[in-house]
Amino acid sequence: MKSKVARICLTAIIMVSLANFAGAQELKDITLPAPKMEGGKPLMQALKERQTSRAYDTKKLPLQTLSDLLWAAFGINRADSGKRTAPSTRNWQEIEIFVVMEEGTYLYDAKANSLKAVASGDLRKMTGTQEFIVPAPLNLVFVADTSKMKGASQDDQSLYAGADVGFISQNVYLFCASEGLATVVRGMIGDKKALGEALKITAEKKIILAQTIGYPAVGK
Ligand SMILES: Cc1cc2nc3c(=O)[nH]c(=O)nc-3n(C[C@H](O)[C@H](O)[C@H](O)COP(=O)(O)O)c2cc1C
Repeated sequence: MKSKVARICLTAIIMVSLANFAGAQELKDITLPAPKMEGGKPLMQALKERQTSRAYDTKKLPLQTLSDLLWAAFGINRADSGKRTAPSTRNWQEIEIFVVMEEGTYLYDAKANSLKAVASGDLRKMTGTQEFIVPAPLNLVFVADTSKMKGASQDDQSLYAGADVGFISQNVYLFCASEGLATVVRGMIGDKKALGEALKITAEKKIILAQTIGYPAVGK
């Protein structure tokens, strides 16, 4: 009897250790494939189809689609100046895009065209309060680095960060319309403090909005 109990305990210890080992495994940076900068629907058609959707399939986005989406959102479209697909106040380029997926959270690096590992594990639920956030494979979190907004008052920082995220979000909307993807920009984020801690952002970085993206739920 005693040896049976010991065996059960040993098995439990091994299982817990294995789970901890898997959980502690380092999330790796991802080099994105070069974004596809041609094709898609004509602009007027994409504008006609732009809309908010709140019903998502669980299917993941291919890495190529993720690369194209992030480039459309806020990638570099003029290599000589490093300027981007969305305008930013005084070219501050202060908006950072966190890419939150089931397997982990990354920071989009437009210059390196890569995703920098931020945190392993599924943080999607922390990005909002609505029920569609978890079936959806991708949630973006837009964060303003106010340390780049030199000389702006706090009011102006809020105004310009909001405006700059708006342009990026609309790029995402138009990309999604063009690719037949579903999306919703979200002010409803929930506990920003907890999310900021999970994203490991410093005090001068402010969470502005989030945006959910995925394939439309079948039949919606
Ligand atoms: C700044 C901003 C914040 C928003 N926040 C949310 C949100 O938290 N949750 C949500 O479901 N929709 C949110 N929306 C989406 C709006 O409800 C949606 O754009 C509006 O109903 C118009 O629909 P349309 O985008 O299809 O034209 C937000 C839109 C904007 C511009």
